[in-house]
Amino acid sequence: MQRYIDESAAFLKDRGFGEPEVGIILGTGLGKILEEVEIQSEMSYNHIPNFPTATVEFHHGKLIFGTLSGKKVILMQGRFHVYEGYTLRDVTFPVRVMHALGVKKLLVSNAAGAVNLDFKKGEIMLIDDHINLQGGSPLAFRGVEKMGERFVDMSAPYDRDMNMLLEKIASENDINLHKGVYASVVGPQLETRAEYRYLKIIGADAVGMSTVPEVIVANHLNLPVAAVSVLTDECDPDNLQPVNIQEIITMANKAEPEMITLFSELIKQL
Ligand code: HPA
Repeated sequence: MQRYIDESAAFLKDRGFGEPEVGIILGTGLGKILEEVEIQSEMSYNHIPNFPTATVEFHHGKLIFGTLSGKKVILMQGRFHVYEGYTLRDVTFPVRVMHALGVKKLLVSNAAGAVNLDFKKGEIMLIDDHINLQGGSPLAFRGVEKMGERFVDMSAPYDRDMNMLLEKIASENDINLHKGVYASVVGPQLETRAEYRYLKIIGADAVGMSTVPEVIVANHLNLPVAAVSVLTDECDPDNLQPVNIQEIITMANKAEPEMITLFSELIKQL
């Protein structure tokens, strides 16, 4: 696998993706931060050797290199999900490539449902911890021990310093930033009422279909990571409304300005 990672990284380096400091994975409906980026290079996932190919239409599916808040950043516009048929190794391959290109920090965003009913749609949540319900690990492959520690410590998977900074930035900018536990499921179906009850009982505050695999791999790489969820729907099992994906995207768009403030200020202060 290392050979494939190095090959992808070398390809990107040759095409102007030089020495990024921060990697950013943009969640569904969270692409507007690109307006703040001075873009130097971009490359569709389909054109990068060894990258999984982009399938979901509302993901533009490209890697972008540029400057944000005075720092060199590499952004993933659109990510890969297990529900699209990719393996956990496919889904996390770009994280390994960004690391090979030199990123020192990883920021992740996603759209998620609010399981904690004190949290409302359109609000945002800093991920403090997670529960992996994807039924597998991106580290469960032969040879993983050659690439780092196999039994990766998960006692603090989200970087404490970045989380503290994000909370400070939120309070300075009047952003109501919740903090909680993100549970990651495969999807693509949404949850049943019984599943939302279960998620609440096991301690989840939010549920989504991404992020946890990437965070596990970041920890494998000793790459400090922070992640923020935009809450797009309220998962009240006793009053469950049918969700539609368009509404999820609309809600994510609504919270975008706050996400942009958090990420761009954080990058400035790193
Ligand atoms: N469940 C799973 N994934 C989601 C949800 C949800 O309620 N909302 C946005 N992504």
